[in-house]
Amino acid sequence: TSGFPHFMALPINPPLADLASDADAAFRQQFDADPTLHAAAPGRVNLIGEHIDYCDGFVLPFAIERYIVISARANGSQEAHIGSTGQEVVTLDLTKRKEPGQPKWANYIRGVIRGFQDRGHHIPGFDAWIVSSVPLGAGLSSSAALECAVATLLEGLLDTVLDTKEKALLAQKAEHDFAGVPCGIMDQFASAFGQPNRLVLIDCQTGEPELVPFENPDLTVLIANTMVHHELSDGGYAARRKNTEDGLAQIGKSSWRDVTAADVEAHWDAMGEPVNRRARHVVGEIARTIGAAKALEKNDFEALGPLMAASHDSLRDDFEVSCKELDIMVEIARSIGRAGGVIGARMTGGGFGGSTVTLCESGRASEIAETLATEYAKATGIQAEIFASRPSRGAHLL
Ligand code: ADP
Ligand code: GAL
Repeated sequence: TSGFPHFMALPINPPLADLASDADAAFRQQFDADPTLHAAAPGRVNLIGEHIDYCDGFVLPFAIERYIVISARANGSQEAHIGSTGQEVVTLDLTKRKEPGQPKWANYIRGVIRGFQDRGHHIPGFDAWIVSSVPLGAGLSSSAALECAVATLLEGLLDTVLDTKEKALLAQKAEHDFAGVPCGIMDQFASAFGQPNRLVLIDCQTGEPELVPFENPDLTVLIANTMVHHELSDGGYAARRKNTEDGLAQIGKSSWRDVTAADVEAHWDAMGEPVNRRARHVVGEIARTIGAAKALEKNDFEALGPLMAASHDSLRDDFEVSCKELDIMVEIARSIGRAGGVIGARMTGGGFGGSTVTLCESGRASEIAETLATEYAKATGIQAEIFASRPSRGAHLL
């Protein structure tokens, strides 16, 4: 060996063409025919603005180079036959209005079909096969990717195009009504609106996304999947959302955008534990996200790092959606620090496990990824999955 340190190469995000040919091969195997349609939709990572999309806040996600790809063709019947790697093929009767059922993973599909049915569409029978490069349960919104990919496939089958915002809202409603998760609009907006070299800055009060440039080649976003997924995520999410609704009612305003830090302080005792700390997170995180968007615009990384750090601490201490493994991964990034090329790190997504996001200097990215993996394995005994992603294109037909 050379004596120079050499670092593991970051994994390559599978090109869409490769995913499509995998899906085609599985489709042919299952249905003994050639697919005619291909739909793709990405997962997302959020740079900052966590647990405030359902509080009229601002969020700053982007679509990642990890996709769900569906190969399909009309089959001339009134049934959909849908397979996904590792799952049993499901059959859906398209003459009926869809309701949630078994198997559960198909509920995202039923929910999207229902959204089209509610808009008066009659869906023709089709066969489909789904493949994915979005890690499951990693807080990177594989479910939003699935919803947006199915919605895009149905657009193709029906030869119609929904307004992008309407498509994202249809997908969100599928998540609410068919998966029972009262999520905000961040994931489906990121998956639907994403563009290469753009962050999706969403004003969740107006429901309008703004595409903001993110094209500095010296910056790399590392995503570190802790590989843990704590069960609390189901009830925990809805409970947090309820906390924020209670807090807003106590403060007596109609939107979190009108609430100040002084308002939170004035109602601290009346709100009580834990609602007061939840409220402090919401108000602080809205301000941090606005600050981070401005810092990014000016390439002011010295400002950005502390905002990401404060976001993580607030999610850990006040909003209580972090966990030991996320905290460990973030601590490792912090100890590498600015001198080692790390600009900022925090948990990303809903929490209770899942992934962290580390913004770093591109020249140091593989070295940093290696340190994250090694130190995390030492501390937890778990092999994390770490990759980099540039902002990529949202849902589309291939
Ligand atoms: P995350 O967003 O963290 O990935 P979610 O709980 O929102 O997790 O969504 C994960 C669920 O989405 C899975 O349990 C599964 O039901 C469904 N899902 C995601 N990707 C696929 C896929 N490729 N095939 C089948 N179901 C999938
Ligand atoms: C996700 C949810 C999003 C958002 C996020 C936390 O799981 O789907 O809408 O609330 O958690 O920022």
